[in-house]
Amino acid sequence: MSERPYVIDQMISAKSIAARIEDLSREIQAEYDGTDKLIVVGLLRGSFVFIADLVRELDLPVEVDFLEASSYGNAMESSREVRIFKDLRGEIEGRDVLVVEDIVDTGHTLTHVLHLLKARNPAKIKTIALLDKPSRREADIAADWIGFSIPDEFVVGYGIDYAQRNRNLPFIGKVRFVEDS
Ligand code: IMP
Ligand code: MG
Repeated sequence: MSERPYVIDQMISAKSIAARIEDLSREIQAEYDGTDKLIVVGLLRGSFVFIADLVRELDLPVEVDFLEASSYGNAMESSREVRIFKDLRGEIEGRDVLVVEDIVDTGHTLTHVLHLLKARNPAKIKTIALLDKPSRREADIAADWIGFSIPDEFVVGYGIDYAQRNRNLPFIGKVRFVEDS
């Protein structure tokens, strides 16, 4: 746990997130209309709130699975090393896979996960991220759908943590360190 005192300033309200997810779900609904082989893969742990809200907006036969990959320890800097902590439970060969990520930052995590999943021969693979920090990108990758593009700030809430805390906040906020007095 972090010892440095910080406050959280709201950046995106719960209401704005809900409205954006409604729009995104309409696009996803259109993309997968008529298919019965959609499998939505949430990247743990940061996407758990987003995926829960997203799939409940979809009027489609949908399966949900999870994968845990991580390039972050408890620090704020991303590393290039991506480790798989928990693999999918089911097979994805011949399936339409939608990978759900919380934030695309350097892009290494998503690049690595796509590489891994494509090797399993899905029929189609697409990606959606709630947040995108384009100015931080190191890998040449972009999600197919993005909720919000944000500046280079460290954010928490709506599933996203700082040192495992604040995932339960209903909004997205930015972490601001305060000086000790
Ligand atoms: P990437 O591999 O650098 O794109 O990192 C993506 C992952 O880093 C995300 O899925 C998040 O788990 C984490 N991450 C990136 N930016 C933030 C942030 O601002 N707050 C919390 N976690 C973040
Ligand atoms: Mg993540």
